[in-house]
Amino acid sequence: MPTNNGAPVWGTRLGFYLAAVGSAFGLGNLWRFPYVAAENGGGAFVLLYLASAFLIGLPFLIAELLFGKLSRSSLLPATLKLIGERHQVRNLSSNQKPIAPGKKRLFKSLAWASLLLNLLVLSYYAVISGWVLHFLIRISFGLLGLTEFDGAVSLEVLMKYGWLQMLLTGLHLIVVGFVVAKDLERGLEKWVGYAMPIFAFLLGLLVYKSLSLETSPEALRFFLYPDFSKLTISSLAQAIGHVFFTLSIGFGTMVTFGSYLRDESYLPLAGLRVCTLDSVISVLAGIMIFPLILMGDRKVIGPDLFFQTVPQLFDSMTGGLVFGAGFFLCLYLASLGASIGLLEALVANLRETRRVPRRSGAIAITILCLFVALIPALSSNVLEFVRIGKRGLLEFWDVLLINWVLPIVALFISQMVSWRLRQDLVEQEFSQTESRTSAQLYSHWIFVLRFVASPIILIALLLQAWALVG
Ligand code: PHE
Repeated sequence: MPTNNGAPVWGTRLGFYLAAVGSAFGLGNLWRFPYVAAENGGGAFVLLYLASAFLIGLPFLIAELLFGKLSRSSLLPATLKLIGERHQVRNLSSNQKPIAPGKKRLFKSLAWASLLLNLLVLSYYAVISGWVLHFLIRISFGLLGLTEFDGAVSLEVLMKYGWLQMLLTGLHLIVVGFVVAKDLERGLEKWVGYAMPIFAFLLGLLVYKSLSLETSPEALRFFLYPDFSKLTISSLAQAIGHVFFTLSIGFGTMVTFGSYLRDESYLPLAGLRVCTLDSVISVLAGIMIFPLILMGDRKVIGPDLFFQTVPQLFDSMTGGLVFGAGFFLCLYLASLGASIGLLEALVANLRETRRVPRRSGAIAITILCLFVALIPALSSNVLEFVRIGKRGLLEFWDVLLINWVLPIVALFISQMVSWRLRQDLVEQEFSQTESRTSAQLYSHWIFVLRFVASPIILIALLLQAWALVG
């Protein structure tokens, strides 16, 4: 396996793209984006989301990859190196005078917060992946003629039995843990490399099929025609939170992936490619899903949107079971790549800070995750009575983590990179190609990061807070 001074590196250049794109495409694009867009009125939100992806997401993504590449470490050890609490090959910090102990503590706590966020998101992500697995299995059984497939009954059974959800969550986590326990090239790179082409092929077919449904003109109008009056004051924060989630920013994943890059990799271009591809997939996912949703019960909006409406269509549509099996397989492959990205970051942080071998780390975190997953898995049955405002536990968990904690943590990481990291080193990463444009690129990037994206995030959070109390 190739290494860089003992640290793992991607086996091939494609390996990085597969992993980064595989981690970015996920339930965020296919399951979360459509319902968040629907809650915020459709087309106008899609525009807001795309603008936020390129204006805020892209600079943040480059910042995280850069932090990993320059420190050759994952988030927590990279932060420790930056604040001088860990040995480093070259000085990373731009600070001449030592950082005050209070600031050091703050930096460390926020790096920990990011990893905790990763663990919490991974566990609820695993529960939803378990739901996907449930439908994939039931539809496949229906297709093989083993049992009759009924979308409504399948959902009822799933929601009623917490143990079933835990079983499926466990199954998913075992698959993810198994891949991450292997080394980078034989695990993540290889498996995501298999999954991505199948995913892309299926998505293409499904979009084609959805566009032939009679609801597609109406769906396209809703999804693509902007009606700005439908936006609310918390829409901006929701768009930003979703951009971070879908680009896997703020969880330590992209820092870890950046740390595996070879010296010659050109980060701005890598970031741009990942961001563009992910945005295209989100829009395609919307184009695939809205015609389906409009065929069903139009009143259902929220995390259940998908699972309440879509599977029920498959038992009535001609060729629905084949379509359905393709649909859930596509969803499952996407959730697999993303879950692997989340777990890889946790295991890498553990390995680098505590010298825990990859395998033991993967096993330990998988087990821990399974325990944490009890809360979201039981939220639709045993813990159904817990409601916070209008929301059930799972939805509250999603909103709290993605719309609040995530932007704050991502903001902190970008601040460390744009103000604390030695800027001569950072600038070099932008001028690896000799052209003048690449030197200008650095100034644009740092300007946007410091003076445009960060204030917008703060304003978005304030508006969101205002909407909450107002
Ligand atoms: N980006 C993934 C999605 O859209 C979620 C994810 C977040 C994956 C963070 C890895 C790290 O579903």
